[in-house]
Amino acid sequence: MRFSTTASAAFLAGSVVAHPHAYPPLNGLSKRKLDLNSFRLETETEYSDTAATDSTPIVALVKRETYLETATALVQKTVPGAEFRVADDHYVGTNGIAHVNLKQTVHGLDIDNADFNVNVAADGSVFSFGNSFYTGAIPAENPLTKRDQIDPVAALKGASSVLDLSITATAAVAKPEESLEHYVIEGSQGALSAPKARLQYILTPENTLALVWRVETDVGSDWLLTYVDAADSSKIHAAVNYVAEASYTVYPWETNDPSKGSRVTESNPANTASSPLGWHNDGTTTYTVTHGNNGIAQANYAGDTAYLSDYRPSGGSTNDYLFGLNLANTNPQTYSNASVTQLFYTANLYHDLLYQLGFTSAAGNFQTSVNGGGGKGGDEVILNAQDGAGTDNADFATPVDGQKPRMRMFIWDYTTPKRDCAFDAGVIIHEYTHGVSNRLTGGPANSNCLSVLEAGGMGEGWGDFMAIAIHLKTSDKRTTNYPLGDWIYGNPAGIRQYLYSTSLTTNPLTYAKVNGVSEVHAIGTTWATILYELLWNIIDKKGITATRFPVLDAKGAPTDGRFYTMKIVIDAMALQPCSPTFVSGRDAILDADKNLSGGANACAIWTAFAKRGVGSGAKRGTGNSGRTASNVIPTGVC
Ligand SMILES: *[C@@H]1O[C@H](CO)[C@@H](O)[C@H](O)[C@H]1NC(C)=O
Ligand SMILES: *[C@@H]1O[C@H](CO)[C@@H](O)[C@H](O)[C@H]1NC(C)=O
Ligand SMILES: [Zn+2]
Repeated sequence: MRFSTTASAAFLAGSVVAHPHAYPPLNGLSKRKLDLNSFRLETETEYSDTAATDSTPIVALVKRETYLETATALVQKTVPGAEFRVADDHYVGTNGIAHVNLKQTVHGLDIDNADFNVNVAADGSVFSFGNSFYTGAIPAENPLTKRDQIDPVAALKGASSVLDLSITATAAVAKPEESLEHYVIEGSQGALSAPKARLQYILTPENTLALVWRVETDVGSDWLLTYVDAADSSKIHAAVNYVAEASYTVYPWETNDPSKGSRVTESNPANTASSPLGWHNDGTTTYTVTHGNNGIAQANYAGDTAYLSDYRPSGGSTNDYLFGLNLANTNPQTYSNASVTQLFYTANLYHDLLYQLGFTSAAGNFQTSVNGGGGKGGDEVILNAQDGAGTDNADFATPVDGQKPRMRMFIWDYTTPKRDCAFDAGVIIHEYTHGVSNRLTGGPANSNCLSVLEAGGMGEGWGDFMAIAIHLKTSDKRTTNYPLGDWIYGNPAGIRQYLYSTSLTTNPLTYAKVNGVSEVHAIGTTWATILYELLWNIIDKKGITATRFPVLDAKGAPTDGRFYTMKIVIDAMALQPCSPTFVSGRDAILDADKNLSGGANACAIWTAFAKRGVGSGAKRGTGNSGRTASNVIPTGVC
């Protein structure tokens, strides 16, 4: 927007109608009546922070060859005699600190809630650690020798019966997997994937060990790990739900800003296919604040980099973020709870939509845990609401895959009272899209592909395009014009030079007019205008739906025009070369369509580009005035 790009990209350059909605639940599977909260695990963990570790070094700091040796030595010293294993997810963070997770075992079986995590500094010393290892008596009897426990199928039946999961396992069979006492249960009905069972221990609230079957079942609305007593299938020690129950009071996804509708409370808006852990679990930890696998959101009044210590609203044990909002208040800090909640909600939903459109973990998206989907983890988005580092803008910094990007949302003072751009979804989408285009163009490991002036302009244009395409309504027509940032700027014309429009009178921008323009947002407005033309050409062919997520055909192509256009625009980002131009960007969109539907929309694409001067004779030329425009559509495509 006035928004610039590292790849740090800002939103802006130099320069009310209410319609409440009710949304159907996702995926049809309704929530069960039973309250799973009563089955939450109770585990106490101690954390010895870096200051404590410095003052009382537990390992005599004999510097070890590798960080794994340091971690192992620390555990042996802290819990002498404990049996444990090193989890295979250890890594060295970008800050140089190595993270090692260790799990306590008994007779070779995991104690599922007995964990030790060791953070090792670059010099080999222990930086800090956390510990929930069990120190009581170890059962002498080895259950693998004695073998009097119930079988895995009986455990599944017990979990289903107590938790009302509606899974039938009458003809089910447990097949052993490679690891000790791990089974896949085949032949059951009612779960989305084959249930699994592992023989383990858990540490009970009474600080005793219980031998259990950890039964894993995914029934869509709840993806559970249920700890069934290995001696009695009707006894459930605990249940962990990977699908976070959560609710948020927010301007819903379809409402761009406070001038377009009212706030509602939504329950479980996460798309379970895009965010299988929900929005408050990062694969290791379940949070009860605005932190999860896709982002960590806070109010950064100081505008500094110490986001971890910033204020984050708490949703309590049930993750309910139901905060009041009074935008008439002159001090935005009074509504930071609602602001951070809104930013967290909008960024997570956009993650979920982008995942469906192909911006997956393998493609370099932003997630702490990749959930086995490929690509690098550890890079959820740092989402700073009310960031004090600036005003009247927003920005997004995109480092390479595996490093956390940062979105900063500033307070805008064009109006009285001031406005908080976390409530303008278009600003959030614009900024987040900088991350998408930077990761996809030239590959996730290269964030330097949109720094050439014209490519940087395209980067701005994609953000505007996505913001507007997402907010298009089924009642809109190709004659509908859209402003960007009208609410936040306090001006119905929005923050760009022209409205987005298919009218050459309302918006006369063309390729020829890019000559001599050296401001990325101005260049981007032309690129987004072309994409807006394309959007309507494809909607005219394929229609428009009101759903939040696309319906995909067998080839993964969205069946409606609005999502189809978003999909080929995003697919083209990964196809185009590093430092793309309007011409190579057009060709990549044509190629994306060729691949997705055999080129069925070539005419619609050429018509849009040719109308605005990027027809078949268009040439980039050299310098910032070397562009040759063309209105020609190649023969035979229409
Ligand atoms: C945010 O919410 C918490 C919990 O309801 C409340 O204690 C706190 O005062 C709120 N912060 C502001 C600035 O209103
Ligand atoms: C798209 O590309 C994939 C990978 O090469 C290929 O399998 C598929 O057939 C292509 N689709 C079309 C319509 O060309
Ligand atoms: Zn921008």
